[in-house]
Amino acid sequence: MAPLPENAPLDELDRASVLHPATPLGAHQDRTGGLIVDRAKGVAITDVHGKRYLDGGAGLWCVNVGYGREELGRAAAEEMSRLGYYHTFAGVSNRPSIELADRLLARLRESGSFESAARVFFGLSGSDANDTQVKLVRYYNNLRGRPEKKKIIARHGSYHGLTLASASLTGIPVFHRAYDLPIDGVSHVTTPHYYREGREGESEEAFSARLADELEAKILAEGPETVAAFIAEPVMGAGGVYLPPRGYFERIQTVLERHEVLFIADEVICGFGRLGSWFGSGRYGIRPDLMTCAKGITSGYFPLSAVIVSEEIWSTLRDAPDDGMFAHGFTYSGHPVGAAVANANLDIFESEGLVERAAEVGAYLQERLHSALDDHPRVGEVRGVGLIAAVELVEDRNTRAPFDPALAVHKQVSAAAQEAGLLARALPGCQAIAFSPPLTIREGEVDQMVDVFAKALRATIDDL
Ligand SMILES: Cc1ncc(COP(=O)(O)O)c(C=O)c1O
Repeated sequence: MAPLPENAPLDELDRASVLHPATPLGAHQDRTGGLIVDRAKGVAITDVHGKRYLDGGAGLWCVNVGYGREELGRAAAEEMSRLGYYHTFAGVSNRPSIELADRLLARLRESGSFESAARVFFGLSGSDANDTQVKLVRYYNNLRGRPEKKKIIARHGSYHGLTLASASLTGIPVFHRAYDLPIDGVSHVTTPHYYREGREGESEEAFSARLADELEAKILAEGPETVAAFIAEPVMGAGGVYLPPRGYFERIQTVLERHEVLFIADEVICGFGRLGSWFGSGRYGIRPDLMTCAKGITSGYFPLSAVIVSEEIWSTLRDAPDDGMFAHGFTYSGHPVGAAVANANLDIFESEGLVERAAEVGAYLQERLHSALDDHPRVGEVRGVGLIAAVELVEDRNTRAPFDPALAVHKQVSAAAQEAGLLARALPGCQAIAFSPPLTIREGEVDQMVDVFAKALRATIDDL
């Protein structure tokens, strides 16, 4: 292919040079234009042509403190000038990482989200953190003399990342198909989505009991001596924004504890205020053995993830025989700049009372979405908590039948919203559009978001 002229438009250069994640590649090549973002402030981003969009997704569910936070820029610049980089292998450490680990543990314990939280391992993404979880679970059971106890159970519709192991934990078929996944030892149970999976006449509690029974039957069929862990997002995000049905986690945990199966809480979206609470675990009474955090920990301003382990797991690792080498980690584990950004991000959370704020505005968002959309003939369910929500579209409200997938109606609605200046993401595993704006969003901006969306929905559906 001949090189593009120097003054080629950016979108052409992009198509000639970038391999995009989670993108239909052929269709992207055939497209003209495309969204190329340039700058952002508050809850809005601006593209290279100067068009402004309200970002209903906070990027990928992560810009919790909003865009253009100079405090975070300053924290990064100061740490880059002071140290720039150093590793944390062989027990080497740095001030920002120590401070961040200490603050995180304190926050997890105080908020009742992880009372036995004992140590923090830093990575770069939710995906690598969940890969770390898979390795930790294996290592822990090897150390305890139970090498056969290795299998992990996840849920259909879950999203845990896209590296080999984390994509296996993810329960959305499109992320498995092309790559021969899941890997051995990973399987999935029913999505706890009452609207779709609940049976005629079944109460929410009975639905939860049935799913706990299903999980127990699976553990027994696999052999409890072979099942090591269960992984769950407190509220399932990218798969569809599914809230746990009443009593779900309590019943699930009873089963897990009976068979000595560890609970990995994936807080990558729920952590850091998204649900109007510090973490989802505290909110839903989850007692994790292991926890994954990313995204909101730096509000997306720097790639950083954290794996937190319980006292029981920590002490087993600490007391490992021989030299007790924890043979795992990355060049950028405990990156001082990422940790400095995370600390500055936590400062904003604390000084602005962002979690409480998210609970308040979140209640407003949920109320506005329900009142604007509940009666729409093609809206099956409006669901959410705090500042995360989804609107699921259906062809027929009575039968709950989805649209023909080939029509990709939810993608059409999302495209119409984008045209009108609102970014609201069509989800990959169901016919829903998600909302997860920055936690700093104001009531007026919520109104604007809901109004633009409702209009885009009406315009798209009327045109069908
Ligand atoms: C719950 C959850 N876990 C893990 C991940 C993977 O994180 P990353 O994309 O940073 O690898 C995501 C990303 O959306 C997520 O939502």
